Amino acid sequence: VLKEATNEISRWPQEIDFIAVTIGPGLIPSLLVGTNVARVLSYATKKPLVGVNHLEGHIYSNWLAPARLSAYNQTPPAKYFKNRKPQFPAICLIVSGGHTELILMKNYGKYRLLGKTRDDAAGEAFDKIARMLNLGYPGGPIIDKLSRQGNSFAFSFPRPMIHTKTYDFSFSGLKTAVHYLLDDLAINELERKKPDIAASFQEAVVETLVSKTLRAAQEFNTKTIMISGGVSANSRLRKVFSKAGRKLKKVKILFPPMELTTDNAAMIAIAGYFNWLSGKKNSWKTLKADANLTLMG
Ligand code: KG4
Ligand code: ZN
Repeated sequence: VLKEATNEISRWPQEIDFIAVTIGPGLIPSLLVGTNVARVLSYATKKPLVGVNHLEGHIYSNWLAPARLSAYNQTPPAKYFKNRKPQFPAICLIVSGGHTELILMKNYGKYRLLGKTRDDAAGEAFDKIARMLNLGYPGGPIIDKLSRQGNSFAFSFPRPMIHTKTYDFSFSGLKTAVHYLLDDLAINELERKKPDIAASFQEAVVETLVSKTLRAAQEFNTKTIMISGGVSANSRLRKVFSKAGRKLKKVKILFPPMELTTDNAAMIAIAGYFNWLSGKKNSWKTLKADANLTLMG
């Protein structure tokens, strides 16, 4: 990966301003590989090192332009950014395979956690349901596609915690509801009903996510809603949010470019850029990975 990335740079390392690296949260073996490579690079090239929170990377993916407009050494057209500049305060919904968090972002680098999942993450729920339906991995894109042939109201699955006052989520009950349904279905029926099950499950997740996010935006009077993480690629989620956005005239709803919704290096670079601007630098001597890093700490 490093070789491929540096090949793209005409004057390596002179052209580089700093090296950004994910320091957490995540699995410690992968974090150690990444941080140690970055520390060595920083030492060898004498470039500053900037540690980045993985979730902060997802949030900042909303500041990026799609690859087709931002080829190396080419500035994306200003008109792309015209109506896309995030304004504060903002509500950030991060929905990925490991996280479902609702965050109030007051300014660059200023976060307050409003709520998170108490059990499974939204992406994890997609992956588990896909496994139950024998559809393959990762489940999110497969369920998204299959749902287009199904009826979202064929089965009424629960919308867990949708009416609770907190901004926490829970998706394990939804998983159990799908499980019970599958137990009751005859095998020949299951094949035929898969698109309906996928669409009804997806609808339950989307409705829960959208409802809590809009409520938070209203309560905190936010100007922008930013959705990010792998699940933000979901076509139904994008559609329902965009429809809600047309009604909420004063709130801008942003999604990252499709190809930057799942984990990628560009989002770490841009989050590193904002950290670097605000003077947050690390030394190769002291930079440490933290498996349980939070956005607030
Ligand atoms: O952000 P990400 O790449 O990794 C983590 O940081 O966890 O997210 C991966 C998750 C997987 O659970 C995957 O099933 C889900 O994102 N995902 C989707 C879609 N594309 C990816 N979920 C729903 N609809 C999609 N189109
Ligand atoms: Zn991620």
